[in-house]
Amino acid sequence: MKRIDGIGLHQVQAVYSGAEGQLWELVMGEQIHLGGLVSSMDLAEKAGIAPGMSGIDLCCCNGAGMRMLVRLRGVARMHGVDVTETVVKLGEHRCQAAGLSDRITFSLADACQTGLPSASADFIWGEDAWCYVVDKKRLIAEAVRIVKPSGTIAFTDWIEGPPGLSDAEARRFLTFMKFPNIQDMAGYQRLLVDSGCEVLRVEDTGRFAPCVDLYLNMLNRQLTYDALRIVGYDMTLLEQLGAEMKFVGELAHAGKIAQGLFVARKHGPVPQEKNA
Ligand SMILES: C[S@@+](CC[C@H](N)C(=O)[O-])C[C@H]1O[C@@H](n2cnc3c(N)ncnc32)[C@H](O)[C@@H]1O
Repeated sequence: MKRIDGIGLHQVQAVYSGAEGQLWELVMGEQIHLGGLVSSMDLAEKAGIAPGMSGIDLCCCNGAGMRMLVRLRGVARMHGVDVTETVVKLGEHRCQAAGLSDRITFSLADACQTGLPSASADFIWGEDAWCYVVDKKRLIAEAVRIVKPSGTIAFTDWIEGPPGLSDAEARRFLTFMKFPNIQDMAGYQRLLVDSGCEVLRVEDTGRFAPCVDLYLNMLNRQLTYDALRIVGYDMTLLEQLGAEMKFVGELAHAGKIAQGLFVARKHGPVPQEKNA
């Protein structure tokens, strides 16, 4: 697993409390992950997320994924965990405005140490966020602890692709993104199995490169002034950010980074068929 030193919770909290987080929301929308609703629906379908279930979103940001699951998948209740106070407050405000705060709640906490009761949800959910977490082994272990036996762990994440990143590419990419490290498909599978799960589905969604192309197009052709406002009208900074984004796009086109999709089941009793 490629890693860099000096990136941790403080750097991530700074991103999602400030201009960088706002820039991500400008190009991605409320759902800050590659593919937006299409990606969420795809993950929900492949994970068998069904009406009436309860879930926990680890690294939920402003809770857009949870609102989508409650509104469009009939999920009964969601609880989100995020370590950045700004986005948790924003999420609570948005859920209240949407009339969903009786079904969606938040904790301000590290996803590796949520403080939530064991075996308390039907599924654990994560979308393009676990890449920010330093200790992915602890994160997966915590996800497995808080899901019910036979429950589902479903997530997408930014991962290293098969050609691999050179050390220089990894340093530049991780520094720009404020990721302490980046997992790959085999690494996540191993962590899930070692934590007591059966891995049901692992795939590259193929969404990374086209999405970054789209974001660059929007920034260069339509949203330039909005982006400039967010960075305090600092044209040089915006150009630097644009250059790093272009670099991310090149890595994605080369297959060196990808959006991975993972669905796993915690070991436990096999659910009985009705009328069996
Ligand atoms: C890309 S955003 C998540 C987007 C969200 N899943 C969505 O699809 O809209 C990443 C989030 O992860 C949170 N985060 C990063 N590391 C964390 C940690 N160790 N524990 C909890 N939250 C964390 C950040 O605060 C940020 O809100």
